[in-house]
Amino acid sequence: MALTYSEYLKIDGLLKLQEPRSDGPEHDEMLFIITHQVYELWFKQIIHEIDYLKLRLEAKETAPALNTFKRILTILKVLVAQLDILETMTPLEFLSFRERLETSSGFQSHQFRVLEYLLGNKSHQTLENFKKGTPLHRELDRRFRERSLWDSFLRYLANCGYDVPTFALQRDLTTSVDASEDIQTLLKSVYREDFLVASICERLVDLDEGMQEWRYRHLKMVERTIGNKQGTGGSTGVDYLKGTLFKPLFPDLWAIRNEF
Ligand code: HEM
Repeated sequence: MALTYSEYLKIDGLLKLQEPRSDGPEHDEMLFIITHQVYELWFKQIIHEIDYLKLRLEAKETAPALNTFKRILTILKVLVAQLDILETMTPLEFLSFRERLETSSGFQSHQFRVLEYLLGNKSHQTLENFKKGTPLHRELDRRFRERSLWDSFLRYLANCGYDVPTFALQRDLTTSVDASEDIQTLLKSVYREDFLVASICERLVDLDEGMQEWRYRHLKMVERTIGNKQGTGGSTGVDYLKGTLFKPLFPDLWAIRNEF
């Protein structure tokens, strides 16, 4: 028999994955579940694309890299815009099922942590939040030790003929990237001399800004929904989230703006 839409996409299984826990169930819990599931699917796609982007950069394939950036950035816009939908839920509507979430929280999203690692935000604490010996811990540990997008970008620059300092190419991959004056000097010459390579830099800035935008919008959504209450994940909630704002992923690309 010819393959059907449902069979190819496994729609039957997919539509069974939404299981509200509240009595009734409460009307808004469906939206809450579907929104999170859609986020996780997009996280999966973004991770897939960043893995690909790293390879394209390291192979000095500028055109496919730019196209992949465009795809990732477009998905990121959708991720930010999606928050508008959850904001149609009032604080009381959320409260009607919130206790059924118990201690679960987006804080535990392992794909979000993979994404952070891929983007160079290498917090060891994040890894410790996952139980050692589990498949999730193993996967995250692997991501913790591998090159971030920034590391692949530095290799791209080296392959384009730029004199990238050895310390940057051989840095400890289990740490976040620190700002470096040497790299900033190099980047300033990229912006002045090579529009195409500078376009790659600008797409990295787009990505950095997009992630910061998501964090800000998520925080405001949380604030309007639960105020200053503790998070279900056990943090101080909005106060904790405020501490994650305005932290650039690629500090050198922001620092050079003062100097043109
Ligand atoms: C009404 C909706 C939501 C509320 C009230 C909410 C609330 C919170 C709170 C309070 C935290 C802090 C950790 C904690 O103690 O739980 C948090 C973290 C987080 N949430 Fe949400 N959230 C909502 C929707 C979402 C959605 C749709 C996503 C998408 C996957 C998401 C992803 C995350 C992530 C990734 C973190 C960790 C951020 C970090 O540690 O930097 N949240 N959320």
